Amino acid sequence: MIVEALMIFFMLVLYGTMVWYRRPPNSAPGPLGLPIFGNAFFLGKEPQKTFRDWGKKYGKVLNVRLGSSDCIVINDYATLHQANVKRLAAFSGVTICPIFTEFTSGNYGIALANYSPSWQTHRRHVVTTLRRFEVGKRSMETKIFNEASRLTDFLRSTNGQAVNIGELLHKMTTNILCHAIFGKRYEYEHPVLCSIVQTINGIVDAEFGEAMQTAMLFPWLRYVPPVSKGCDEVLKSRQSMIETIDEVVFEHENSYDEDDMRDFIDCYLKEMKAGKDLFTRKQLLYEVSDLFLAGTDTTSNTLTWCLHALLHYPETQSKLRKEIFDVLGPTGKVNISHEPKMPYVLAFINEVLRFHPLLGLSYRSTTEDTELGGYSIPKDTPVWQIPAV
Ligand code: HEM
Repeated sequence: MIVEALMIFFMLVLYGTMVWYRRPPNSAPGPLGLPIFGNAFFLGKEPQKTFRDWGKKYGKVLNVRLGSSDCIVINDYATLHQANVKRLAAFSGVTICPIFTEFTSGNYGIALANYSPSWQTHRRHVVTTLRRFEVGKRSMETKIFNEASRLTDFLRSTNGQAVNIGELLHKMTTNILCHAIFGKRYEYEHPVLCSIVQTINGIVDAEFGEAMQTAMLFPWLRYVPPVSKGCDEVLKSRQSMIETIDEVVFEHENSYDEDDMRDFIDCYLKEMKAGKDLFTRKQLLYEVSDLFLAGTDTTSNTLTWCLHALLHYPETQSKLRKEIFDVLGPTGKVNISHEPKMPYVLAFINEVLRFHPLLGLSYRSTTEDTELGGYSIPKDTPVWQIPAV
């Protein structure tokens, strides 16, 4: 009797293991991992590095099983280009998991909101409206210049005392975005500016960021300490940022003038007042929060890494100085038309971005059944991209 029971148990385990290891036809190759857990224990502290190592063995498109779900990892530039440019609509979803649903309060904002008519409409609106308020245009240069001059004035006034340059650059880049979104800049100690910078730091904090990434990779860990604590802290900072933006939006509502569009918020309010579908106050708050999150920490960290590189590579610093002086002379003002004449400056910035990628992994998903690199990928499959490739 015992022998029969053991035989049945053994056959069930064998059958379960075979079923678990079976992959759908034409799926991408990848490490098999352990039954039930998949590769959960093998990702390491920086999964993007592990994925790149696995890519050397399995190729440019990897299938990584985590728990019971298959995830796709894109591991080379040409395939990344295919997914993001040639087949953007099929790869524009966001990985669906409880922590992202909480972070977007359903599906609000544009950075982590899922692909939908609302996302498409607002993505388009953001790009056209920011262009209208000069982001990416030459006239924005004056504001960037003024902000940079204030920063250098401030640095001079400290008489060589140690300062937190990362924080100052964060305030400077946030102020530049404040011009376009809020229609004004703030002094460095102003509570609105400090609150935005502080809450962004709370959201992108390395430890909490790790908790968010863990909760995304293993959704059930969202509810288990210490991951749950890190995620709660991120959500608290997000909420506090939304409250700060809410106050600025409230001021705009009270001083709104149909004939004087001052900034991004006014333009959004105009669409709301016109009763345009999908334009809501809540979406405005989450969208503005996403713009500050996506646009300020990225830019200021890139600048901080540039300064770091200048300190550590003095010969590079001399070459950069020479190229800039050759093009501008000792007193000239730089503008975007000088870009083609400064190949070394551009190469330096690109190298800093390559060496210190600001985003380890981006968490997309497929919006339809599709294929990539010759492999079939079903709808709603998480697709993680490694921007550093
Ligand atoms: C050095 C500066 C920057 C870097 C390296 C950078 C990098 C990136 C990357 C890699 C993504 C794609 C994320 C994904 O696919 O999951 C992204 C998305 C995004 N970025 Fe940036 N970014 C920078 C500056 C900015 C600025 C200045 C703004 C706004 C004014 C901005 C707004 C956004 C938004 C709204 C998204 C999400 C929506 C979308 O994918 O189009 N970024 N950024």
